[in-house]
Amino acid sequence: MTGFDPNWLHLREAVDHRSRNRALLAELAEVFAGRAAIAVVDLGCGLGSNLRGLYEHLPERQHWRLVDHDAALLAAAREELAGWADACTRNGDDIAIEKKGRSLHVTFVQADLARDLESVLDPAPDLVTAAALFDLCSREWIGRFAEAVAARKLVFYTSLTYDGREIWQPAHLADSAMLAAFHVDQITDKGFGRSAGPEAPQALVAAFGERDYATSAGDSFWRLGEQDAPLLQALANGIASAVTEGAQLDAEAIASWRAARLAPGVSCMIGHRDCLCRPA
Ligand SMILES: C[S@@+](CC[C@H](N)C(=O)[O-])C[C@H]1O[C@@H](n2cnc3c(N)ncnc32)[C@H](O)[C@@H]1O
Repeated sequence: MTGFDPNWLHLREAVDHRSRNRALLAELAEVFAGRAAIAVVDLGCGLGSNLRGLYEHLPERQHWRLVDHDAALLAAAREELAGWADACTRNGDDIAIEKKGRSLHVTFVQADLARDLESVLDPAPDLVTAAALFDLCSREWIGRFAEAVAARKLVFYTSLTYDGREIWQPAHLADSAMLAAFHVDQITDKGFGRSAGPEAPQALVAAFGERDYATSAGDSFWRLGEQDAPLLQALANGIASAVTEGAQLDAEAIASWRAARLAPGVSCMIGHRDCLCRPA
């Protein structure tokens, strides 16, 4: 299993939120329009960014079950949400929060999704969601996930699944070799078997399509420029160290690429896909 650095999750939150595909968010809001309440399960919740990115698109009363295997991230998510809320009441480990006219009841569940997937989907919610999770998962696990969601006839929405497209400006000689080497790292086992990596968006659409779901998908590119320098630099450092570990490229090429990416004036587009799946 991989541990996710809270600093990395903090850095990406605002960019993740602005990158979400607006048409899919509107479609999701439409699915639950007119309902007073909704129950949601968020898989691989990290610090709770997905809840903060979605709550305004969902009915007024919301019950969230936030699931992660990392106890420290779950504890930090509880504190982040309490601090973000307009008002917060604690009830044991649960919290009830008010935010911009919406009431959210939030519970936190520590579970390993590779093992406990089915149990975290019960009792069945109205919506299963996740952000930036599925490229870590194997094709087999994605099939098992779609099966579990379809068996319960749930709506599923996910955002920010990495799809392998990257365009860096200005171009560097090692761009393609770095991307190829990064993709070798992307498909290593992150706790679910060999990861689907950049094939995850297509694997999700196929898995739900096979189960008679109507699926919509759209781009949610990160478009990073000078104003996102801390995230850009963390991304470049992360790619360079993943590639170094994989030993696909010589150290000099990696160092030259990294130095160019940390220089001022760099921008990049990182490909992600969002996906909404509804039972037919
Ligand atoms: C890239 S982070 C995304 C976090 C959050 N959804 C967000 O958008 O900021 C992936 C999350 O999945 C969690 N995760 C990874 N493997 C897991 C597993 N086997 N079971 C439960 N959670 C897992 C990590 O702890 C991390 O919080």
